[in-house]
Amino acid sequence: MAINWTEAQIEEVIHAVIKNLNGGTPTAKSGWDGAQYNGRSYIGVYTDMNDAIDAATAGYKAVRAMSLEEREKVISAIRDLCRKEAPIMASLGVNETKMGRVEHKIAKHVLVADKTPGTSDIVAQVKTGDYGLTLTEMAPFGVVGSITPSTNPSETVICNSIGMIAAGNGVVFNPHPNAIATSNYAVDLVNRACAQAGGPRVLVASVVKPTLDTAQIMYKHPNIRLLVCTGGPGVVKSVLSSGKKAIGAGAGNPPVIVDDTADIRKAAKDIIDGCSFDNNLPCIAEKEVFAFKNIADELISGMLANGAYKITAEQAEKLANIVLVDTKNPKTGIVKKTVSRDCVGRDASVLLEKIGVRVGAEVRCIICETKFDHPFVQHELMMPILPIVRVNDIDEAIDLAVKAEHGCRHTAHMHSKNIDHLTRFARAVETTIFVKNAPSYAGIGFGGEGHTTFTIAGPTGEGLTSARSFTRYRRCVMSDNFRII
Ligand code: COA
Repeated sequence: MAINWTEAQIEEVIHAVIKNLNGGTPTAKSGWDGAQYNGRSYIGVYTDMNDAIDAATAGYKAVRAMSLEEREKVISAIRDLCRKEAPIMASLGVNETKMGRVEHKIAKHVLVADKTPGTSDIVAQVKTGDYGLTLTEMAPFGVVGSITPSTNPSETVICNSIGMIAAGNGVVFNPHPNAIATSNYAVDLVNRACAQAGGPRVLVASVVKPTLDTAQIMYKHPNIRLLVCTGGPGVVKSVLSSGKKAIGAGAGNPPVIVDDTADIRKAAKDIIDGCSFDNNLPCIAEKEVFAFKNIADELISGMLANGAYKITAEQAEKLANIVLVDTKNPKTGIVKKTVSRDCVGRDASVLLEKIGVRVGAEVRCIICETKFDHPFVQHELMMPILPIVRVNDIDEAIDLAVKAEHGCRHTAHMHSKNIDHLTRFARAVETTIFVKNAPSYAGIGFGGEGHTTFTIAGPTGEGLTSARSFTRYRRCVMSDNFRII
């Protein structure tokens, strides 16, 4: 999968697609807001959440009336448009959120188009015996309420739409308030694709101004049967306390262990590739490294040869005071460090400039050597800063890596050829995703086997969600007959 688009190529595709879309002149950087794009209203985006839920309810009825073949035709049209308009959504996402990298966001959209499972993920189970036949089917919930993040906004909307529609549901979205235009562009894209494939004009819906209040309307509305939340800890907690069936995909802090049996050159490249992908926004990305002390120097020089820039302990302190800020909880008055919104997902060169270091675009990631208790190790930064902690042996590596993961049980990585070490760490860390000897994104199907998703539901146990995660089991019993052997 190509991820090396030049800016000129991206501009060219954006212009071509917008021209096709509007018959007008593209103004991709300024011509959009939460409800329209270049003067054309988004389809399926409403002012009132209740209207959006009504539209999604009608969408659900339409999906139920479709044959599987028709449903798959709609999904195939969504995949095609997602590939075609990936550069627009990537560019919108970076412009609106100021986070991430356009060429990587293009790759993420293509990944979603190619590797999000459709209706083939829905399978029936059968049991036959002396008393006849029992069929268990994966049925839709009805209308799903989906809370989406600012880190992977349109990717999550399209990935959720494919899976939820494949399962036979309707969907209403409440996108992150900092990524409304990008997320609603994706809602509009799903609806345009649906209409092109002969489906209804509005299949999925959203609101012009999503807030926690519109989310509350969604939580309480009787038509919403399932809530799915991909986001930061606050919003995941609010969904899980809603009293409704909920799927929660929340925070992680993925550690990486590199032992002295690993292919160190490859490990160095893989780690920098994964850590710097979309400026560390994917929640699976490498966040801190525990390196055996006898290979740490070689690992660091391999990282430097692959686009890393090493800062001193003093510079790390200075940077830590910029990227982490004191935040007071208005309810409890307790002050704690949180990541600065102005630093999440920024280029390494932008972060370095904040401490007076000027580097070119070839620098993809900032590395530094720290102790275990350094804030860079303890906080999920979601920016291309990678602390490296030297360890004596596998016992210390596993102990510290498990502690740094903070029990999120999200993702962990290891570079090693020692199967005992690999097995021990996987058992101890208990994460939803465990990647061995590859960049983190192999864990979501990018250069690795298996399907993709940006909704990784560790807390509620669905794991890497797909169509079947958005279903409920129903049993149908035929007494005495249909066992034909
Ligand atoms: N709809 C409505 N409100 C939302 C929302 C949504 N979809 N998503 C978040 N919010 C709310 C939050 O609850 C929070 O409200 P509060 O201030 O009253 O607590 C507010 O919007 C700000 O959201 P938050 O995202 O926590 O803060 P931020 O914008 O400053 O932080 C990030 C940005 C990137 C650090 C944060 O969004 C994050 O941690 N994202 C991780 C997302 C992710 O991909 N997680 C799952 C991976 S599987």
